[in-house]
Amino acid sequence: MKKRILFVDDEPSVLEGLSRILHGQREVWEMCFVANAYAAFDQISQSGFDAIVVDVKMPCMDGFKLLEKVRNIEGAKDIPVLIITGEADSHIKQRALDMGATDLLSKPVKKDDLVAQLNNMLRAKSCQDEIFTQNVPTDRKAEERIADLEISRLDVIWRLGKVAEYRDYKTGNHIVRVGHHSRIIAEELGMGRDFIETLFLASPLHDIGKIGIPDAILLKQGRLSPEEFEVMKQHCAIGVEILREDFEAMKPFLASGKIPSRVISDGDKNPLLAMASSIAMSHHERWDGTGYPHGLAGDKIPIEARIVALSDAYDALCSIRPYRQAYLESESLECIGKEVGKHFDPRIHEAFVRSIEKLRALFCCY
Ligand SMILES: [Fe+2]
Ligand SMILES: [Fe+2]
Repeated sequence: MKKRILFVDDEPSVLEGLSRILHGQREVWEMCFVANAYAAFDQISQSGFDAIVVDVKMPCMDGFKLLEKVRNIEGAKDIPVLIITGEADSHIKQRALDMGATDLLSKPVKKDDLVAQLNNMLRAKSCQDEIFTQNVPTDRKAEERIADLEISRLDVIWRLGKVAEYRDYKTGNHIVRVGHHSRIIAEELGMGRDFIETLFLASPLHDIGKIGIPDAILLKQGRLSPEEFEVMKQHCAIGVEILREDFEAMKPFLASGKIPSRVISDGDKNPLLAMASSIAMSHHERWDGTGYPHGLAGDKIPIEARIVALSDAYDALCSIRPYRQAYLESESLECIGKEVGKHFDPRIHEAFVRSIEKLRALFCCY
């Protein structure tokens, strides 16, 4: 493909001279000659050039002004510009280079100098274009790969939550609703965006530890004996064991795949796993300190676990269980209301009550 070069000079005789001496280049260059900077600016704005040769002294808009305007056109910022000047003033050269000109030639222009200079500029432009076209797909591929990894990660987290639910009771979309309830309450509490997004993804994993509880206890109809209840309580610690980060144990597994080493680095904690682990451990703690496994009270219970405790209880009460019908919403709210200050954090309960319309709407969606 021919290289496109634009020549700009207000003197027709100069343009004719350039056209004549460069006649031999027509096989490899497509040359366009314009007699003022305005026409040049229009041409550059409308179509791509591989190089521009411009006279400094022109009426109305001089070569410097044109250069300045060209450098502000998106897509023309990197076109090499050769300035032609009749003056031997070193300030002109310095100013042109400072403004982004590629080089200068003095009038009268010699054919060999001009051809050599333009060939240099065109070669540099070709290299630059090649690097750009190679980089664009690489960047896009990298972005697509990161997006794919993110989707895979969320997909795995989601399925992990489903595993826990599948072993327990079949309550429809309990884990989806707990995620949404928790998000809505956290929004009402005015928590930060990162916290809310992480909570939304982490809360469905609250009962992941139940996969370590024997069927005879997990699926038992009726009350658990005190011994059985002790076993049941272990689902919190089992959940933490599943969710806690253990890079040493994971390294051989990760190294067998095509995972970049920086991803395997244990320098940064995964905030999602950290929150999921915290919720798994503390979602059965109670505000008055009578919960399990550690008997934490009040603000000692992580806020994410206090939010999930309420959203989980609300969804469980409003859902059918194998051993009972779903409670009416009014009955569920009454049950929860009686536990404020005992089981539930009063401040979170207030946010929950303020959000009830949104929470109710979720039952129609999931
Ligand atoms: Fe639980
Ligand atoms: Fe639950």
